[in-house]
Amino acid sequence: MSILVTGGAGFIGSNFVLDWLTQSNEFVITLDKLTYAGNRENLQSLNGDPRHVFVQGDIGDSTLVAYLLAQHQPRAIVNFAAESHVDRSIHGPEDFIQTNIVGTFRLLEAVRAYWGGLQSDARQAFRFLHVSTDEVYGSLGKDDPAFTEAHRYEPNSPYSASKAASDHLVRAYHYTYGLPVLTTNCSNNYGPYHFPEKLIPLMIVNALAGKPLPVYGDGQQIRDWLYVKDHCSAIRRVLDAGHVGEVYNIGGWNEKPNLDIVHTVCVLLDELRPRADGKPYKEQITYVADRPGHDRRYAIDARKIERELGWKPAETFETGIRKTVQWYLDNQAWVDNVTSGAYKQWVGKHYGDA
Ligand code: NAD
Ligand code: TYD
Repeated sequence: MSILVTGGAGFIGSNFVLDWLTQSNEFVITLDKLTYAGNRENLQSLNGDPRHVFVQGDIGDSTLVAYLLAQHQPRAIVNFAAESHVDRSIHGPEDFIQTNIVGTFRLLEAVRAYWGGLQSDARQAFRFLHVSTDEVYGSLGKDDPAFTEAHRYEPNSPYSASKAASDHLVRAYHYTYGLPVLTTNCSNNYGPYHFPEKLIPLMIVNALAGKPLPVYGDGQQIRDWLYVKDHCSAIRRVLDAGHVGEVYNIGGWNEKPNLDIVHTVCVLLDELRPRADGKPYKEQITYVADRPGHDRRYAIDARKIERELGWKPAETFETGIRKTVQWYLDNQAWVDNVTSGAYKQWVGKHYGDA
């Protein structure tokens, strides 16, 4: 038995593959294009492990995907592959359309052909799990109830619009062709191997480098944070026990304004790696221009997955963020590798010299 994990060299995908192989001996094929966000080093500990194979390639490469499916006969696919950064989608939406929409479509087509050719037991047991985001639901007002699975889709950024389109395609392949799909919509993740273009790792890396900590607008936008390993355990649970065709929202019950997040990171660094001059890291906070179309608030109602599948997060924000900050302190070489080259160009383009 095996599973195919797409985007498995990225942040969540690599955490998922590493976790999977600590919990099970089931063979994993990782398919990843290795864009700027994908990193072979994330899976370095699996080098030589007979339970894992890495294939560099695009989910939109129908020939390659068909070959991998025929060769390995996976019982499930977990689709993490995507362009995932809202700010990049604002600067250049094209890659988001290509991977998140066209790529997901081509992947679905290849999977449909493969699934259609399976024997009846394998056909029944097969699952296509699509990993999506709470951002497809749009932005909440201060007192609105959190997003349930029934919330209507109101994506506001090119990123969330492209993810919404991919969710719709996945849904359509179930209703039209009977493909046994599962969709998960998760809130903001944080943890090890998070590329430092996203809020939490950017703040840790910039703080340690003595650089400004760029807070967009008034810093009062709210996100609902989940430790990445809790997201991985939720996906495993949905894959095991989720009802075909269903959507599960995944969240950590941790709504926090961005400024609180940045302060928490600063306080932890003050404790774990104080500045040489003895001053607090919060002195590096700098307010910068707001993101265009910036969603004000996301919040996930995760009661369905708890009620139906018995899943709950294991970490609180306090325990998860401490582990995360410590991981970045312990893994400076990883940070140095991912922040060389193209990363510098992105930072220069997006923040100027910040
Ligand atoms: P990421 O950007 O860190 O990783 C994406 C991975 O996909 C990279 O390894 C990249 O090389 C790979 N990839 C990109 N285009 C590809 C293609 N055409 N073919 C094959 N591989 C390709 O993203 P992430 O944060 O790990 O997110 C993973 C998934 O989870 C995405 O679908 C994202 O929308 C979703 N998600 C992320 C969050 C979050 O907070 N990061 C929250 C909810 C959902
Ligand atoms: P991000 O990590 O990009 O995730 P998303 O946009 O998918 O929620 O951003 C999280 C929040 O932090 C979002 O409200 C934008 C804000 N933010 C900043 O204030 N400064 C930054 O430099 C970045 C990258 C994000």
